[in-house]
Amino acid sequence: MNQLSLRLRQNENLCGTYFRMEFEWPIELSPPVPGQFLTLRTGRGFVPLLRRPFAFSGFHPERRQAEIIYEKRGDGTTLLSELSAGTTLDVLAPLGNTFPFPKEGRRPLLLAGGIGMGPMFFFAEQLAQRGLNPLLVLGSRNSLQIPILPLFRMVETLIATNDGSRGFSGTALDCLSSYLEASPPEELYELYACGPYGMMKAGSSWAKDRNIQSWVSMEQTMGCAVGACMGCVIRVFAPQVDEGIDDPGSYARVCTEGPVFSGDLVDWEGAIHG
Ligand SMILES: Cc1cc2nc3c(=O)[nH]c(=O)nc-3n(C[C@H](O)[C@H](O)[C@H](O)COP(=O)(O)OP(=O)(O)OC[C@H]3O[C@@H](n4cnc5c(N)ncnc54)[C@H](O)[C@@H]3O)c2cc1C
Ligand code: FES
Repeated sequence: MNQLSLRLRQNENLCGTYFRMEFEWPIELSPPVPGQFLTLRTGRGFVPLLRRPFAFSGFHPERRQAEIIYEKRGDGTTLLSELSAGTTLDVLAPLGNTFPFPKEGRRPLLLAGGIGMGPMFFFAEQLAQRGLNPLLVLGSRNSLQIPILPLFRMVETLIATNDGSRGFSGTALDCLSSYLEASPPEELYELYACGPYGMMKAGSSWAKDRNIQSWVSMEQTMGCAVGACMGCVIRVFAPQVDEGIDDPGSYARVCTEGPVFSGDLVDWEGAIHG
């Protein structure tokens, strides 16, 4: 983890209430990896006091440029949306663990709900570059919250909207489920999900019923983001040694042991969501 002063290159409205921010990445730092996140100060003074966490949504090695996609929600993200190119950002990065690549022979299924799209786009791009044929399913409230991106030509993408204004009418998970009904039954998969809590819980349960390994990127309100304050814990089942969780209790810190967890490890009934 590093405290960085990063120069903002671009900050633009992507679609609806979503924005994309691109900033310079120092040459001496290794690139961020899908699943990892940063925290940044959104204001110049003490308000808002806490840094805000955002997942990396892309990295361009030639331009040494990293990006996030964020939703304008409250005070912090409203301040972010007002920043212009050239501003210096106070950033802690890179933080957290990463999405594991699927086991050999398994097709990666990427479930992105709403603003959970950022890390899924980043991972989809890397999977496609490695020839791993990801299927990206992007679910949103309506067509206004769906961006148009070159990535959709590179990766097989399904769109689902709750109001049916674009693509499949219904949830991203229903869309995925109905798509797979037409797929060969012998095909093997691994599921990756980022989005609303309910979507990840349902996705994890759906995967378990089909004997599919699932990975979820958990969100929790964060204080320090470096493992010290315990403000971001979620309840988990007894951790396995090989899952890298160093606290043998029934809680795990999203900021350091996560944000990516095996869906089976999360205690979905007891997990606290701030
Ligand atoms: C590991 C991690 C990765 C994240 N990645 C992204 C990302 O890529 N893009 C993105 O837009 N956001 C992401 N978030 C959520 C983001 O941190 C919050 O949206 C942001 O902190 C809101 O700040 P604010 O000051 O604008 O809103 P606040 O004023 O703090 O809150 C405004 C409203 O948003 C709600 N809210 C705040 N935080 C969350 C949250 N984490 N989940 C659900 N509702 C929340 C509050 O309850 C409140 O109703 C991530 C969070 C975590 C923990
Ligand atoms: S935010 Fe402090 S331990 Fe995770």
